[in-house]
Amino acid sequence: MTESTTIRWEQDDTGVVTLVLDDPHQSANTMNQAFRDSLAAVTDRLEEHRDALRGVIVTSAKKTFFAGGDLRDLIRVTPEAAQDVFDMSMAVKRHLRRIETLGKPVVAALNGAALGGGFEIALACHHRIALDAPGSKIGCPEVTLGLLPGGGGVVRTVRLLGIADALLKVLLQGTQYSPRRALENGLVHEVVDTREELLARARAFIDAHPESQQPWDTPGHRIPGGTPANPKFAANLPSFPALLRKQTNGAPYPAPRAILAAAVEGAQVDFDTAQVVEARYFTELATGQTAKNMIQAFFFDLQAVNSGANRPRGIEPRRVRRVAVLGAGMMGAGIAYSCARAGLDVVLKDVSPEAAARGKGHSEKLCAKAVAKGRTTREKADALLARITPTADVADLAGCDAVIEAVFEDTALKHKVFQEVQNVVAPDALLCSNTSTLPITLLAEGVERPADFIGLHFFSPVDRMPLVEIIKGERTGDEALARAFDLVRQIGKTPIVVNDSRGFFTSRVIGHFINEGVAMVGEGIEPASVEQAAAQAGYPAKVLSLMDDLTLTLPRKIRNETRRAVEEAGGTWTPHPAEAVVDRMVDEFGRTGRSGGAGFYDYDEDGRRLRLWPGLREHFTRPGHRIPFRDMQERMLFAEALDTVRCLQEGVLTSVADANIGSILGIGFPGWTGGVLQYINGYDGGAGTGTGLPGFVARARELAERYGERFTPPPLLVEKAEKGETFTDAR
Ligand code: NAI
Repeated sequence: MTESTTIRWEQDDTGVVTLVLDDPHQSANTMNQAFRDSLAAVTDRLEEHRDALRGVIVTSAKKTFFAGGDLRDLIRVTPEAAQDVFDMSMAVKRHLRRIETLGKPVVAALNGAALGGGFEIALACHHRIALDAPGSKIGCPEVTLGLLPGGGGVVRTVRLLGIADALLKVLLQGTQYSPRRALENGLVHEVVDTREELLARARAFIDAHPESQQPWDTPGHRIPGGTPANPKFAANLPSFPALLRKQTNGAPYPAPRAILAAAVEGAQVDFDTAQVVEARYFTELATGQTAKNMIQAFFFDLQAVNSGANRPRGIEPRRVRRVAVLGAGMMGAGIAYSCARAGLDVVLKDVSPEAAARGKGHSEKLCAKAVAKGRTTREKADALLARITPTADVADLAGCDAVIEAVFEDTALKHKVFQEVQNVVAPDALLCSNTSTLPITLLAEGVERPADFIGLHFFSPVDRMPLVEIIKGERTGDEALARAFDLVRQIGKTPIVVNDSRGFFTSRVIGHFINEGVAMVGEGIEPASVEQAAAQAGYPAKVLSLMDDLTLTLPRKIRNETRRAVEEAGGTWTPHPAEAVVDRMVDEFGRTGRSGGAGFYDYDEDGRRLRLWPGLREHFTRPGHRIPFRDMQERMLFAEALDTVRCLQEGVLTSVADANIGSILGIGFPGWTGGVLQYINGYDGGAGTGTGLPGFVARARELAERYGERFTPPPLLVEKAEKGETFTDAR
């Protein structure tokens, strides 16, 4: 086999070979066929020239060191190709193993990010030096894509760090470390500041360790912390399943379980057998549906959404320098912090200087916490705070090139504040409202430049929630949409774009989830099992507790307004069975949700959740009434999925990627599904109804028969199922 240019061989006259990873066809190196061929070729060559070599340095000519597995290949893998996947995993492992046992020092000079396969290559080197490049990350994030590291990553991290640390620090959470934190956690040996130093230190290691080998190849090596065969370690074993339960909440995420099994089983056998164990589990995950769902969502869809697939073309990108945030309440304060963190100057306005200062206080608290946790320095935190100017004076908004309004949810008030500011800020300032329920088209009627008016729907808590839903009103211009998109990216969040409609996409769809949970309580199902069903379906928040957090009164108010609008337009309102439950909770029992001190749950004076309200059993539960657990879970998942299809049908949504990403990042749709439409694509109804869209349609009809017409599949879904199509964006 001849050497390809994917891995360049550069040998100096002192016998040091530098292997430069440099895929000529891509901007980043990935574990594709060309790389695997190249790896085989250089491995042969290293062995051939072994006696003339003093050592090997592995580095890359790209910005990153190595990007990991080729996800384009991986997402296409079918269960029938399991043997090929296994063979591929074993081939890479064998080559890396040959390099690692060459008998010469091998150093990884990590010039940039080394994630997944990249870190696995580094782990096969005797010494790892990382350049402290901005944004450079090190770790094994495979679990976040439903996979495990299949290039020896499980085998080596276990032998390097011990089972517990390998699982907790590297494998189960998929943490991506900065070079310095990677050093602190034992993932690399040295961190340097310049590229020259990187190579100089690599050479120095080779000079000083002519006979280097891996710790696990030295006689007498023991896995740190012991193995399950060791009684001390065995005492800790029972905590692992609990750890898993904590991580997955019983939801169907196969990767953490497979990682745990590969680590524990692999620790009890020799290195080469452990590699086989790892390859088997890798193959199981790579050929399964969950990995496909997660790769689709967290890689392809996220990339499409963030890269602007939905941003109007041909409009020059613009950056906002100074933003006016109107209303310094919960949302405004959070928005101000997120903007200032991204380097924007923020003028935070409320009705009084005290209220505005309180809003800035939120940033002060978040900064103090970040400094205490070592996530930022005091200087950086002070600079962030200095960018926020609290005020009650409209004149201070002069020169702002964007406005984000977050005052009370009241159309007249919102019209009034825009009237006040629209001629003070820059004449072409972008005008955004963070309304959660009011139509953007209606709000735009209150401004002089409706083409510049747009919805920017943030989620709470703003500093932690990564999504922003951009809402186009009827009169919103393309320029405003492009600028809103750029602003959301500028503050490091993920923008989805939807057309104006009641509840937009996210609030509307999450409403169906909540209604379904509440309806089940109304049918007499045990409330605790409704909560359990939501948790085990993979929802991060249980359904009744979420309803309490939102309050029972707000959705009721919105529902009554919607009903009025529907009836005024001559339509008929079909009440959802949840409505009667909410009405009784509020009217008969005075339980309005968490902020009112009582809802589906009881709360203490500090708002801490105590227990499900015993009255639910008394007033709603029909003792012994049960429906299949799977029905409970699928009623919630289907309710959201079906309404998402309706959103697509009605043009509220225009892209599948937006639906998938919006559902996971905005409203807690379970990540294992790959998002709300990918859930339909990958649906597995088993022997009952079959898979994919046809299986989903058949199952929806079954649910409609059992639980109500609302599960009837919408025409768009039926049509796609009949044509053999799936939900994908045509791009
Ligand atoms: P909030 O009640 O915490 O804050 C509203 C703030 O606006 C108060 O500080 C108030 O003093 C201030 N304000 C009232 N009149 C003003 C005026 N004329 N000029 C300047 N400031 C004025 O409300 P919250 O929760 O922050 O909500 C704000 C907006 O964000 C609402 O439209 C809401 O629907 C929306 N929203 C809320 C979410 C949430 O989870 N709470 C999520 C997404 C959007």
